[in-house]
Amino acid sequence: MSLSPQWLDELRARTLLSGVIGKTTKLQRAGREWKACCPFHNEKTPSFTVNDDKGFYHCFGCGAHGDAIRWMTDHQGLPFIDAVKELAQAAGLDVPAQDPRSREQAERASTLHDVMAQTEAWYVEQLGRAEGAGARAYLQKRGISATQARSFRIGLAPDSRTALRSALKAVGDEKLVECGLLIRPEEANREPYDRFRGRLMIPIRDARGRTIAFGGRILGDGEPKYLNSPETVLFDKGRTLFNLDRAAPASRKAGRVIVVEGYMDVIALAGVGIDEAVAPLGTALTEGQLERLWRLDPAPILCFDGDTAGQKAAVRAIGRALPFLAPGRTLRFLTLPPGQDPDDLVRAGGAPAIEALLEAPEPLVERLWRHEQAALPLDTPEARAGLKQRLAEHARAIADRDVSYAYASDFRQRADALFAPPRREWQPRAAGRPAKPGDRTGDRPGDRRGAWPAPRPVSDAARAMSRSGIDPATARALLAGLLRVPAAIAEHVEALSHLVFADPALDQLRSALVEAAWRGTVLEGEALTTILLRVGAIDLLQKRGRANGLAFSFQRGDADLERARRDLGEVIDVMVKRSELDARIAEATARLGDATNDGAWEEQQHLQRERQETDRRLSELRELAGDADI
Ligand code: UTP
Ligand code: MN
Repeated sequence: MSLSPQWLDELRARTLLSGVIGKTTKLQRAGREWKACCPFHNEKTPSFTVNDDKGFYHCFGCGAHGDAIRWMTDHQGLPFIDAVKELAQAAGLDVPAQDPRSREQAERASTLHDVMAQTEAWYVEQLGRAEGAGARAYLQKRGISATQARSFRIGLAPDSRTALRSALKAVGDEKLVECGLLIRPEEANREPYDRFRGRLMIPIRDARGRTIAFGGRILGDGEPKYLNSPETVLFDKGRTLFNLDRAAPASRKAGRVIVVEGYMDVIALAGVGIDEAVAPLGTALTEGQLERLWRLDPAPILCFDGDTAGQKAAVRAIGRALPFLAPGRTLRFLTLPPGQDPDDLVRAGGAPAIEALLEAPEPLVERLWRHEQAALPLDTPEARAGLKQRLAEHARAIADRDVSYAYASDFRQRADALFAPPRREWQPRAAGRPAKPGDRTGDRPGDRRGAWPAPRPVSDAARAMSRSGIDPATARALLAGLLRVPAAIAEHVEALSHLVFADPALDQLRSALVEAAWRGTVLEGEALTTILLRVGAIDLLQKRGRANGLAFSFQRGDADLERARRDLGEVIDVMVKRSELDARIAEATARLGDATNDGAWEEQQHLQRERQETDRRLSELRELAGDADI
């Protein structure tokens, strides 16, 4: 049996080596690599390393070295073909049928590589000739030095239908057509002709640095601007990233990888020493390309034009990536000034122009929030609910449960902060008037936070304030009620996610319940027991006390379920309202010391009365309990 080198490359690329080795050998993270005591020889200190990027293991002690297939044969003792089959199955790849043609195909591929290499050399030669003067001038005009052009092996396809075909006559039409270099007309009686004519030829290389395709740029203006190689045996567009072969090692040094939109952007960045940039080939990023990027860096930086098209592309990339996000797998975004690409920036301001932007790329969560929140006006309750719904859908698109949940709660907090009721604001100090003591911009006695904080939405403050949280007795009562009427958890998941219980263990149980409900787990029976066991809650709730002999209906063993459910809902509402009031009271109180502000005292008093009202309502809901328990 012979498998094509392309197929074996694909198998290696799809296999996470540490996952394979980790099954039998205990691995420890060591920077970008993994370490272990060598499974091939006896040792006490680890000298065996596994590198997922490179797909190799290596022992500095005994010299054992190999890839995933080698591991399966040498360590697991499998015959080659079984090793391949096992890895292929894990990677979801079909092993190609054993057929004599595959050997032929492998040979052909290697000759095709050779054809591409010859073609590239010929294009480079054409650029250097007298006829290449115009193209060289074009490069110069674009600020691409001869050194840069050489290092990217840029060449020129002469403006002729026959030049390449006759230059590579020895190769023959068939192979040139197969490489996508000649076009064979439909009509049988017509001759094949050169695909690329009068274009600057930019080689596209695979991860191992072999040229597998070309991007041909027109010299000057004209359509299409770029003509690219068609997909061939060698060239799978959706799995290729322009400049990956150089960006991979550079990204390890730089600690980042940058994705730009165009070939010219990559070339311009390399010109100022930023070698860790790649570009897809004129299409949206594919899943395969994302996978490759995540092998290089946990948070690739995607650069997009600030114009509408660029921003649409950014959002499209997010949509692609969401399902695959995981701890250690995200994206970051860089929005360029509208109408400018990295090439323009670098030409105008050198490396510093782009480095300045690269210093603070926007996290994916922020970028997505910014997009959704600006997408539509939010002037009606329906529109605001619509936003929340869209955000929740995005969070649900994330397959990783923890990340999905973290997104959901992050979005909820952002939406709540945005929709918090507007607060009365103080008049800002008139421009030009010098600050005087008592001005809100300066230090005020009694303001422990130093400079006056920017106005914050109340619910944000409420969360901060209610750090002190709900007292343990009420918290236990609420939890007991929720466990008795589990349907109420999903019903009030939103509100419950905002409450904070003072006792950390109780709060952990609350968030475990919220998390489960948010994921849509039906909370009853076993699911519930699992959660209780996980956070050690059974013990926790046993510790409950009934200091005053009062209890809510939902704490009682004989409670009418309907009533319990209703009361539970009301207590939750009251608690939410209360933590909000606490926050506003704290703010109003802080403002009392401010001489320029007269409304604060009235406001504080008013809020205090409202808070007392919540106390009163809570005690109404409690009654003398005969047999309160959980
Ligand atoms: P751009 O138009 O941004 O290209 O398209 P660029 O690299 O900045 O080129 P210059 O600076 O105008 O010379 C981004 C990418 O989209 C693909 C190419 O991969 C290009 O690099 N593209 C663009 C095409 O394949 N065909 C086209 O006609 C245009
Ligand atoms: Mn450009």
